[in-house]
Amino acid sequence: MKVVSDIKPLRDQVAAWRAGGRSIGFVPTMGSLHAGHLALVTRAREMADVTAVSIFVNPMQFGPGEDYDAYPRTPDADRDRLLQAGADLLFTPAAGVMYPRELERQTRVTVPELGDMLEGESRPGFFTGVATVVARLLNLVQPDVAVFGEKDYQQLAVIRRMVEDLQMPVRIEGHATVREDDGLAMSSRNAYLSAEERRAAPALYRSLQGAGAALRAGRAAAEVEGEALAELCAAGFEPDYFCVRRASDLSPPGKGDGQLVILAAARLGRTRLIDNLVVRL
Ligand code: PAF
Repeated sequence: MKVVSDIKPLRDQVAAWRAGGRSIGFVPTMGSLHAGHLALVTRAREMADVTAVSIFVNPMQFGPGEDYDAYPRTPDADRDRLLQAGADLLFTPAAGVMYPRELERQTRVTVPELGDMLEGESRPGFFTGVATVVARLLNLVQPDVAVFGEKDYQQLAVIRRMVEDLQMPVRIEGHATVREDDGLAMSSRNAYLSAEERRAAPALYRSLQGAGAALRAGRAAAEVEGEALAELCAAGFEPDYFCVRRASDLSPPGKGDGQLVILAAARLGRTRLIDNLVVRL
């Protein structure tokens, strides 16, 4: 596995692959890699001849007072895991490589509506940070396919919309959420949970499953949302939102919708967890 931190060697490798007629798969990450990330790498390897992975904790997607400094960074373990997983290239740029200007003066990509609701409302500027860094990474790596986890359902929707609106020549592939045995969605931020919080954390996924069953039984979305919020509070969470939306565009559900998604974000102690469940009616 080749490891590069600058744009020139990255572009040289991409050009060499292209010259050799190789298709390129890409997995952008913020590191602190777990089995969920490695599943994305495996998917990329199935879909392309060579696989590039980036590790960059993107300051633009963290708001003031968020966990940018505390975000777990495990570069040596990440490198070993990617080697084992069969990645061909690891791109580890410093902030100055990704953002040569001061952050405030950097050109940005904003995806209105989809990027303003739910996570975007709780974390203003978050999706502009995500869309901007992903656009820049896609321009640098020029992959045929880029793979993202469905755990960040809204992020995937925002990226698909950006790629469609900007006519970027890349296929965006979603990969099913990878869960621990007790249902907790894998996330680098799970490392923040105390032992007691870790035991309580799977209640978030259980509340999604309960809500999904209630929707399939014909219960009204608003009622289901209200009950789930109360359940989460009783289980010690501080919910940010628990919302039933159309799976296709995250708009509020209407009569006759065949596929919904329930999206939830809640704090457990200092850890903010997000998860979702797609529900076919
Ligand atoms: O999902 C993530 O890890 C990040 O939001 C991403 C897509 C790598 C952009 O920084």
